[in-house]
Amino acid sequence: MRKLMVTGGAGFIGSNFVRYMLEKYPDYSIVVYDKLTYAGRLENLQDVAARFAGRYKFVRGDICDMELVDQTVQREGVDTIINFAAETHVDRSLMDPGAFIQTDVYGTFVLLEAAKKFKLERYHQIGTDEVYGQVLKSRSQEQDNLEPRSPYSASKAGGDLMALAYYESWGLPVTVTRGSNNVGPYQYPEKVVPLFATNALDNEPLPVYGDGLQMRDYQYVIDHCEGIDLVLHQGELGEVYNVGTGAEMTNLEMTQIVLETLGKPESLIQHVADRAGHDRRYALDVSKLRALGWESHHSCAEAIIKTVRWYAENEWWWRPIKGGELYQEYYQEQYGKRLAS
Ligand code: NAD
Ligand code: TYD
Repeated sequence: MRKLMVTGGAGFIGSNFVRYMLEKYPDYSIVVYDKLTYAGRLENLQDVAARFAGRYKFVRGDICDMELVDQTVQREGVDTIINFAAETHVDRSLMDPGAFIQTDVYGTFVLLEAAKKFKLERYHQIGTDEVYGQVLKSRSQEQDNLEPRSPYSASKAGGDLMALAYYESWGLPVTVTRGSNNVGPYQYPEKVVPLFATNALDNEPLPVYGDGLQMRDYQYVIDHCEGIDLVLHQGELGEVYNVGTGAEMTNLEMTQIVLETLGKPESLIQHVADRAGHDRRYALDVSKLRALGWESHHSCAEAIIKTVRWYAENEWWWRPIKGGELYQEYYQEQYGKRLAS
């Protein structure tokens, strides 16, 4: 495993993973293959391009484009695909489910075909805890039934199961990780923690869906990257590994932490109409990954505080996004009526 193709590497987790891997493994090279949707940004990798010029390459492409995927894998001598590329936001999946099915299911199939055709050493699929559906009690284990409830999680379940099907059917060397909610630098400000941090910095309301008692496991993105790295090097083929802190908090608790970190008042909290089909709680059992020697280094609270501080110190990154027309249109559609009523 020397030549990795990281699909979706210009997004939030992908760009953190690329930086982490190039720093840790001086003999690895990485080709980032990314369509650069609204969520993919070359700014996320600008330091990487400068620091690792000889070992890093960027190719703009769609994972649904079989010809370009095949060509890139062959031309670059790729031996491993790690697939982060996806449409990733639940609220957007309620507006336009088709894009999610296309990228998260069909795109995954295209990458799996390439891995099979060119006999790659490894295919790793980045999955999500959302495929288990909401778990009101106890914690999801890897063998639990998948009961996704949103177009996003249903599409991710499709990709995840397709990867496992390639292992069962053709012995493709596949591994899958299912991560909980990530926070950290370079997360597009549509996801709740960067949205709330940047709104609070501007003294704008924080739109809490419903009663705000939904629970999530917020993990620091580098902890997640370490988990993926461990599974890549020591995970068993055909196996799934959960990655998260193994603890969770309510959205109101998360919101309080954001406000306290920035010294902003609770009056910024605005309860708004709930998300359709909002999953009440996700909770992971992470003992399988811990048994490989992995530990999360940040609690949910530590992860959120560190993230909020990054947004406070890196306005250069998020101001142009939030000021852009695309973002404003999205914000209006998602929050316009909610915040007005
Ligand atoms: P993101 O939305 O920040 O980035 C997604 C990236 O994929 C972008 O760079 C985008 O340009 C690219 N992309 C989208 N469609 C593409 C296509 N058709 N072809 C090529 N590139 C395409 O997402 P993220 O938060 O970094 O998530 C990365 C992966 O991790 C996803 O598979 C997601 O489901 C999974 N995941 C995310 C979280 C989380 O909390 N963010 C948690 C668990 C799992
Ligand atoms: P989000 O970051 O969209 O991730 P998930 O994929 O887990 O839904 O949302 C995290 C939680 O925050 C989830 O319970 C929905 C809630 N939320 C709000 O209350 N308001 C918001 O504006 C957003 C985007 C999310």
